[in-house]
Amino acid sequence: MPEKPPNKQTEFGYFDDEHKEYVIIDPKTPYPWINYLGNDGFYSLISNTTGGYTFYKDAKFRRLTRYRYNNVPVDSGGKYFYIREGGCVWSPGWKPAQAPLDQYQCRHGLGYSRFLSSKRQVHCDLTCFVPLGTRAEVQRLRLSNRTEAPKKLQLYSLLEWCLWNAEDDMTNFQRNFSTGEVEVDGSHIYHKTEYRERRDHYAFYSVNSEIQGFDTDREAFLGLYNGFEAPEAVTRGRAGNSIAHGWSPIASHFLEFELGPGETKEWIFVLGYVENPAGEKWTADGGLNKTRALQMAADFDSGEKVTRALAALADYWQNLLDAYQISGPDTRLNRMVNIWNQYQCMVTFNFSRSASFFESGIGRGMGFRDSNQDLLGVVHMIPERARERILDIAATQFEDGSAYHQYQPLTKRGNAAIGKNFNDDPLWLIQSTLAYIKETGDFDILEESVPFDNDPAKANSLFAHLTASFDHVVNNLGPHGLPLIGRADWNDCLNLNCFSQDPNESFQTTENRAGEVAESVMIAGMFIAFGRDYVALCRHRGHTEEAERAERHLQAMATAIDRHGWDGDWFLRAYDAAGKPIGSHANRQGRIFIEPQGFCIMAGVGLDDGRARTALDSVNKLLAYEHGIVLNYPAYTQYHPEYGEISTYPQGYKENGGVFCHSNPWIMIAETLVGNGDRAFDYYTRLAPAFREKHAALHKTEPYVYAQMIAGKEAATPGQAKNSWLTGTAAWNYYAVTQFILGVRPTFDGLLIDPCIPAAMKGFQITRKFRGATYEISVANPAGVSRGVQQMWVDGTAVAGNLLPVFAPRSYHRVEVLLG
Ligand code: GLC
Ligand code: GLC
Repeated sequence: MPEKPPNKQTEFGYFDDEHKEYVIIDPKTPYPWINYLGNDGFYSLISNTTGGYTFYKDAKFRRLTRYRYNNVPVDSGGKYFYIREGGCVWSPGWKPAQAPLDQYQCRHGLGYSRFLSSKRQVHCDLTCFVPLGTRAEVQRLRLSNRTEAPKKLQLYSLLEWCLWNAEDDMTNFQRNFSTGEVEVDGSHIYHKTEYRERRDHYAFYSVNSEIQGFDTDREAFLGLYNGFEAPEAVTRGRAGNSIAHGWSPIASHFLEFELGPGETKEWIFVLGYVENPAGEKWTADGGLNKTRALQMAADFDSGEKVTRALAALADYWQNLLDAYQISGPDTRLNRMVNIWNQYQCMVTFNFSRSASFFESGIGRGMGFRDSNQDLLGVVHMIPERARERILDIAATQFEDGSAYHQYQPLTKRGNAAIGKNFNDDPLWLIQSTLAYIKETGDFDILEESVPFDNDPAKANSLFAHLTASFDHVVNNLGPHGLPLIGRADWNDCLNLNCFSQDPNESFQTTENRAGEVAESVMIAGMFIAFGRDYVALCRHRGHTEEAERAERHLQAMATAIDRHGWDGDWFLRAYDAAGKPIGSHANRQGRIFIEPQGFCIMAGVGLDDGRARTALDSVNKLLAYEHGIVLNYPAYTQYHPEYGEISTYPQGYKENGGVFCHSNPWIMIAETLVGNGDRAFDYYTRLAPAFREKHAALHKTEPYVYAQMIAGKEAATPGQAKNSWLTGTAAWNYYAVTQFILGVRPTFDGLLIDPCIPAAMKGFQITRKFRGATYEISVANPAGVSRGVQQMWVDGTAVAGNLLPVFAPRSYHRVEVLLG
């Protein structure tokens, strides 16, 4: 372990770019700083003190280990180890024992977390990861005696089983305290609650050596009146060999051993999930069929096997990240683009908004709009999975283009309980599908037959789904010819038809008034921005008539925005159910909103007549501050039933004047469209975690990933972040910085090169893999401009324009770009 960090560090840690890790050097971070293990199905969340939990595919219905939310102290419960020497007990991740460590590092890497610690000259190196294609978490734990004398040590593992359904597990004690069942067989501890009845799955926790004891009953291990910090068994120095009968089953291995002077020993623990087909549930004599568990444990029973699996994981990530790599003048920009932003995009793609330290994993499924937007950040890395996701999402759409707001990942079916009629939802399908086609050139996806409302009898081509999305807006226009907002648009909390007075109902699901008046200027902008792509697609496919029809609607929408969507210095946000403007000079609070400024300008409205610049100057003056761009200003100070949830939040938080980070890249992109590279990049750096690392204590959440919200300028705690990890912020910032600021943008016919950078940026190099070819792009900016490609050379030959063609797969091309 390097004693001297390679980079400048904050009090809590530093980026180690070479290993693609964030290194935490103080376990008492301002909030638990977590990481995600797993890539496709089996997942763990793991904090910098080894807290967190594990699930298979669905954080609600297939929860392997238990977690208690909003606990005291924070982040209690996880997969823990205790090391004991004499009467001294400590944990390699500091928690839960919390004995002071002589050395502590948590290295969160791509798909693994590593904990390096030492106490009493016993050095511990613990690495946790989920091997590729494996339904298990592997923990490799090494202990070294760094003294000249032998040491007698004990090691205890601990995890607490969840009784599968995470919500029921936290509430239904009258049943659950009687159902728990375990089995211990050598070093394998099995959790088989409800396996006797309808479940075809069980979990196990094993270690690749003989054990000297175990515990499976929580009370026996901890003692009824103890927390995780001082289990009775550990204090006593001996496992109880307890077998749980109901109550709360756990799994704890007990190991006792001697470490010679300078000696290192290694153990491999495997926490696995097994599904057995109906005919193979039981052995001939009626016992649990353990074959698959034993095979899984055997797959990782040696140091070499684990080292190989770790190397494969590293290759997997390198291969993904290689699709877009920059070498630029600012290491913070490089590490965001090359490593952390792409990593977060993959995590949001995998988890949607289901499981984080802010999302409980028992609430939300996959959001229709969220999942579409998440694709923007990953389609260049995992086009096949993006394709599958698009088809899954489209299958939850209704024939009239509307959509379930969410669907469940296990069943892939729409969730009726969450409501529908968020009138922005349908349009995001156009954006994601177009992003996929531009990246891959796979127009065939449009011919895929996709059901409506998951009903095979109602299947039509994906292209027909896009048309339905487009027409959903056309068929739902309000009095000004602007789109009706429905339950809400992207801003979930702008509930203009809700008028709720009952504190027991949720704004998101309660019955709305039939709203034929409230309109959204943001959806109007989206409609044109994504609709133009739809038109281009129609033309590309020779559907001239459809293209012309769609164009007429876009033209009408542009006229409606001109007439009714411009407020003098910025774009209006909406009309409420009484037809009164929102986000206008006419309002006392909520005079200006961020969303329509971003979307109308992305739609091209006001680019040729100066309104775009005027609106962006208003954003700069009224919404932007040191920690980002707030969503609206001034924030509401009282509840407005006619606006809904937005006015429920105290000023400066969430959708009421918070920096809702997801929306900031819209302004960055808009700034690039008017050629203001300095401002676009300035806004980028206000949010990008690597640039905010200096504010780590104030920011609170992880300094390596974006948060959904940073408290706004009117908040009591400006600059403080919440809801880290699972947010559309990741994909949109990635999209903005790679495609609009650095300006390498996929189109139907090739890669468009159109950077818009700070004038002082002298240049940068990008390696981009696109449709199988590698583009080595070198941009030079000797004249100090922000935008404008003066000349391009491909493999040494000058070419006209700034569109790079699609090259043959596996070919390699050098591209020089001169700005000026
Ligand atoms: C959350 C939701 C997203 C919504 C946003 C703004 O991020 O997941 O769907 O658009 O809030 O309200
Ligand atoms: C979104 C919003 C949040 C709102 C929630 C309702 O996530 O960000 O403010 O309360 O939706 O489900």
